[in-house]
Order: sequence, then structure tokens, then C-alpha cells
Amino acid sequence: MTYQVIIPAAGQGKRMGAGKNKLLLELNGVPVLIHTLRVFEEDEACTGMILAIHPQDEMEFKELLNKYNVTKVINLVPGGEERQHSIYNALQTVKNDGTILVHDAARPFIQKGQIQRLTEKARETGAAIIGVPAKDTMKKVQDGVVVETVERSSLWAVQTPQAFRISLLQEAYEKAKIDAFVGTDDASLVERLHQPVSIVEGDYDNIKLTTPEDLYFAEAILKKREKEFC
Ligand code: CTP
Ligand code: MG
Repeated sequence: MTYQVIIPAAGQGKRMGAGKNKLLLELNGVPVLIHTLRVFEEDEACTGMILAIHPQDEMEFKELLNKYNVTKVINLVPGGEERQHSIYNALQTVKNDGTILVHDAARPFIQKGQIQRLTEKARETGAAIIGVPAKDTMKKVQDGVVVETVERSSLWAVQTPQAFRISLLQEAYEKAKIDAFVGTDDASLVERLHQPVSIVEGDYDNIKLTTPEDLYFAEAILKKREKEFC
């Protein structure tokens, strides 16, 4: 069961406030970007990665791909204004049909088993995403006042990767472009085609590195995994 993966990496990491793309920050001496790419490099089911990058990062990223022997990047495309535009650019380079994953470069802790379960589900249904049940009590708030306590049992926090039949994702992205719709994930574009999207239960440690405190969590996750390997 093979797949290709689009990896949006063209952000600026403004909320991380590191003064550079957060994907260049190091965890255990290795850049976040490389932690993420290694998962796909080492997964034999992955036949190719398409990376969306910011032109200002191009030289540095290329050097890192060489240094860490990342061989499966088949295309580097320029990123766009928003994440969605970066992925749109990447999708233009995908020709054959099959399964495509979209995975944020800023989520370095994704694991092969989860990718496998996700791609299997997408193969069956056309669209599948990974997520975890919400743990906190969730409330809808307006102007500083609670409007409603939302029933938690039906709420999931959604992550990447998200997996799709290629033609379905391309159709969804074209429609979003025509309608000038910008969503916060890929599945929301597919939902607009009234296509069912399945959810696969993932892992709470598949965090996205967004703000500085996420780096503490990242160190803890790495330590836990090192212990598991010993
Ligand atoms: N991304 C992208 N193109 C953009 C914006 C984001 O490819 N125009 C990528 C980021 O590099 C990241 C993923 O999309 O891997 C998720 O985005 P986010 O966590 O928001 O990262 P940044 O946009 O870099 O961070 P910020 O929003 O804080 O600036
Ligand atoms: Mg962003």
C-alpha cells in the first residue's frame, strides 16, 4: 500500500518567535524538518515526498537534505501565502492517481504505525484523517461570555497526516480556489464536496510545534521514546 506525501514547510513560524523558520530549530541536535522527513524516508510504503518551501529557506533546506541523506524528495515547490496555497502548489505536481497524504513538517512525532492505519482507511473510503478525542471540557465563548458547553464526546482534536484519493483532493482544492474558501485543514475542503471523511484514532504525542512551550513537550516526548528503545 504505497502513498506519496505532501509536506508543507513554507511557514515562517511567527508564533514560535525564533526569528527563523521553526523547522530549522534542533531537537537532540537534529532540525525539526529532518525529524519529520526521516519518518517518511524510513517508511517503505512512501514512494515520494513533495515539499513546499519558502524561497528564503531553499539553500538551507537543500543542504540539510544532502547532509541527512534524505533521498525521497521528488519535488520542491514554492510555498504560498497560506498553508492551503502551499499545498495547492504541491498538488499541481502530482500526476498519477493513488493515495496522497498531507503532513505538516511541524509535526515531527508521527509514527509509522499510525500512517499505516490511516492510509489503509483512506484506501477504503477515499478520505481519512487522524485525531484524538478532546480531553478538556469545551465551551463556546462570545465576547468573553460562555454561550454554551459543547458536548465533548463528539469532539476530536484533528492532526495531520490526512490521507486522500489524489483525484478527490485535487477536486476539493480546485473547488476551494474557485470559491475563495480557505480552510484550516485539508479535510474541510473535501467536506465541502459532501464526501465522507473517516477518522482514525491517533496519539496525543503527535503534537504540532507551534509556540515556544511546545519545545518542552517535544524534549519530553523524545526522552520517553529514547527510554522505550533502551
Ligand atoms: N506552512 C506552509 N505554508 C504557509 C504556512 C504554513 O507550508 N504559507 C506550513 C508550515 O511550515 C507548517 C505547517 O504548514 O509545517 C503548519 O503551519 P503552522 O504550524 O501554522 O506553521 P507556521 O505558519 O510556520 O507558523 P505561524 O503560523 O506561527 O507563523
Ligand atoms: Mg501558520
